[in-house]
Amino acid sequence: MKRIAVLTTGGDAPGMNPAIRAVVRYGIVKKLEVMGVFRGWWGLINEELKVLNHRSVSGIISQGGTILKTGRCPEFQTEAGQERAFNTLKKFAIDGLIVIGGNGSFAGAHKFGNKYNVPCIGIAASIDNDINGIDYTIGADTAINTALNAIDNIRDTATSMERIFVVEVMGRDCGFIALAVGLAGGCEDVFIPEKPFDLESSCHDIVHGNMIGKVSWIIVVAEGAGHAEDIARKITEITSLETRAVTLGHIQRGGRPTAFSRDLALNLGKAAVDCLLKGEKDKAVGLSSGKIAVVDFETAIKKKELKVEGLYSLIKTLT
Ligand code: F6P
Repeated sequence: MKRIAVLTTGGDAPGMNPAIRAVVRYGIVKKLEVMGVFRGWWGLINEELKVLNHRSVSGIISQGGTILKTGRCPEFQTEAGQERAFNTLKKFAIDGLIVIGGNGSFAGAHKFGNKYNVPCIGIAASIDNDINGIDYTIGADTAINTALNAIDNIRDTATSMERIFVVEVMGRDCGFIALAVGLAGGCEDVFIPEKPFDLESSCHDIVHGNMIGKVSWIIVVAEGAGHAEDIARKITEITSLETRAVTLGHIQRGGRPTAFSRDLALNLGKAAVDCLLKGEKDKAVGLSSGKIAVVDFETAIKKKELKVEGLYSLIKTLT
């Protein structure tokens, strides 16, 4: 193996840059030439790539986002798009591909790699932490801490003004961020896509709490379970209590990666290069049981079961 390429695809996650840094610098140490592909699969289809050197990744360790840019590429879902991507790999004599992204990115790499016999290794990066077989993805810790800072701020005003807040966090299909910040932020309730919730019963608790002197509440909702504005309106309708809605949105995707997200990214970048050098393919690297784990794409792209009950019941017990 002489030349490899690296790309970021899907939603960005804080820590993608440190992962790119590790792939490039460790790759160079291992006598590989490393090419960076811009804008994910789109860049592979449209030949947007260049050789990266040690200097190309200077100063990016602390930056959120990805210097390689990212996006979702419908053209890569087509046979024609995949063929063009493969032609680019052939033209530039690329022997292996490192794909930094989430489960959608891995599903694409799995299909593409097997169809064209291209060694592809994924690096698990997603704020949603929803990759099966992997306990922690790059970016999840940073996103949780960003959301938690916001919730701590909201707590100050909620307590001072004796209000109810509904805070919407990211997670279209997954309640990971909501549960994590619900627990760490001391929130009173959490609504997530994985668990049906009963708004009437939550409102009953709010009214009861209010009668015995509990006057501020924070309810966290994952975007996949509902919208903060709608839920806040319904709470006011049912309880007649003043309720505010906050949608944290994409601020959770940006910002300086935490030490945990960076360290994970640097370790996974190295591990991905090692996998390619060992002749591995069709696999993803991530953190599992405190260690770097190598998981088949086939497993990684399956739906991850979030362990909801233990966390949820702890949140409710400590409320
Ligand atoms: O990266 C994952 C994620 O942040 C989800 O939690 C969210 O629903 C989605 O991406 C948003 O995607 P986009 O930025 O394309 O709207």
